[in-house]
Amino acid sequence: MRLFIDTASPKEIEEAMRWGVVSGVTTNPTLVARERFPDFHAAVRSIAAMVDGPVNAEVIALECEAMVEEARVLAGLAPNVVVKIPLTPDGLAAVRQLTREEIATNVTLVFSAAQSLMAALAGADYASVFVGRLDDAGHEGMEVVRQTTAIFDRHGLETAVIAASIRHPLHVVEAALAGADIATVPFAVLRQLLRHPLTDLGIERFLADWRQVSGNR
Ligand code: E4P
Repeated sequence: MRLFIDTASPKEIEEAMRWGVVSGVTTNPTLVARERFPDFHAAVRSIAAMVDGPVNAEVIALECEAMVEEARVLAGLAPNVVVKIPLTPDGLAAVRQLTREEIATNVTLVFSAAQSLMAALAGADYASVFVGRLDDAGHEGMEVVRQTTAIFDRHGLETAVIAASIRHPLHVVEAALAGADIATVPFAVLRQLLRHPLTDLGIERFLADWRQVSGNR
């Protein structure tokens, strides 16, 4: 499983890239609005220049033709842009058209395995299952990831499954066990993923022992 970072913050992207564990970025209108970019296109361009892997940018339009137009512009901003399209009838029609034009798409706001299947049949490159928001609503979000990967595997569907709306490290572990291709993770969770109190304690003890040994010499 690969990890993407779910943020539009250049600072967070830069730090996560430095750790060498992240191979792409997902943004959404909420995440971009939190940052101080002159405009949306500037945000996409500057994030896309920071990473070699996919950078996901979402359309705002809701009608098929308008989504396709917006997607063409976003895709033209950098070669690694993937266009996020919401899972609606117009969204699926837009994905079908963009697939014909070889523009990469990520169908977003997927909340059921049935919706994942629709995204794959429309030709999406990625389908983003919002695990945390399902959990928040009292469902077991990860079950949708499990069902989606089982369906895609059984029927040879090539759409990559993204476990999105990740809230904590266990979500990432469960997504990997469920066979997700990618988990897209907020910076705070990414940091939690590599922390363990026993690692810190271990370093402290090694250093204390080393100081004693070198002091005795
Ligand atoms: C995915 O691409 C979305 O940006 C994201 O995971 C949404 O997560 P949220 O539920 O924390 O807003």
